[in-house]
Amino acid sequence: MSATVSSSTNVPASVTPAGHTASAPVIEFTPFVVEGQRAVHGNAFPLALKLAEGNKQASLPAVKERIQELAHDGTIRSLLNQHGVIFFRGLPLKTAADLSFLVDAFGFREEHQEIGLSGARSSVTKYIKTASELPGTVSMHFHNEYARTNHFPEIVFFFSERVPEQGGQTPLLSSVELYDRLQQELPEFVRDLEEKGIIGRQYYPSKHDPEAAAVGYNWQDSYGFDIQEGDSIEVQHAKVEALLARDVQATAEWQPDAYGDRLHVVQKVPAIRTIRSSGRRSFFNGLSGVYGNAKRAGSLLPPHKVQNGPGYKLPSSYGDGSPIPDAYHERLIEIQDEIGFLVPWQEGDVAVVNNYTVQHSRTTFVGDRSVLVSLWDDIDDFVRE
Ligand SMILES: [Fe+2]
Repeated sequence: MSATVSSSTNVPASVTPAGHTASAPVIEFTPFVVEGQRAVHGNAFPLALKLAEGNKQASLPAVKERIQELAHDGTIRSLLNQHGVIFFRGLPLKTAADLSFLVDAFGFREEHQEIGLSGARSSVTKYIKTASELPGTVSMHFHNEYARTNHFPEIVFFFSERVPEQGGQTPLLSSVELYDRLQQELPEFVRDLEEKGIIGRQYYPSKHDPEAAAVGYNWQDSYGFDIQEGDSIEVQHAKVEALLARDVQATAEWQPDAYGDRLHVVQKVPAIRTIRSSGRRSFFNGLSGVYGNAKRAGSLLPPHKVQNGPGYKLPSSYGDGSPIPDAYHERLIEIQDEIGFLVPWQEGDVAVVNNYTVQHSRTTFVGDRSVLVSLWDDIDDFVRE
């Protein structure tokens, strides 16, 4: 089922659009082997592509045109369904502006609008944002982007703009392979997650809380788009509640304080979802990040206050409110590390990630690193249950 890549692993001989004409210069992508590449249900994970020998000097507009053709004839989408990740190396890309020029060629439906950002991320140029502005000493656990909510992108581009001296790879894993492994090893955990779903709780201070700047986010900036000058605190709360219900199907719990109250966003979501195009199950959530961050912060126990730092890290529970045993979280994190693939970034590399079937994380690093992201909505390949 899942192993390292072998001669029987499914990799296309070359990737070129159907029906291109002989008069146009043919730009072809050829697969290459990348260290640590895996096979998931017989498909290379990730699919690594570079420009064919004769196309190494191709211009960015020419590459864009070819990618547009591959998008129009369905090749891009089908490769993403099959492999989860397309990892491009050697494209003529150097800057955020280059990536901005290229990304809409992939033909995804529309740029994803983020709601409830709870990490440091800023816009660089059209379609392009920083991945994370957390310092290099901080690693991240595996998650599907925004899987803690009901409002998540289907596609995430990662672009390596600058590679640090050490570390800073982007670990990726197949959420389908993760589901398979958990089903084998912890079937009772999978059963409970499937039957009950999960409830996530996220803490947001008020922007007037002295800790808010250090936390890095607050409920007014994350959810207060409809608040107007002069709104009473009750009206502000009501507007936030209305937006949560409308846009992310979440509810609000307010924790009284002197600064306009702390917000807990309470979100019941499935932990495992079904992929429409393959019929397979995908472990789609952010459980290990929630647990791992709380463990690191010393806040696993009530009241979940971060030790030696600002704010709170609130645990996820099963959907009936019962606790998820620590032992399951611990084994989940071990399995994720066992099946992860480290993207060995070189400058200009791009990974196009199917967020529905792939989790990502981040290793620590030393030096100057820049990974940029672009988030997109597409066909919506989940069966809505
Ligand atoms: Fe992420």
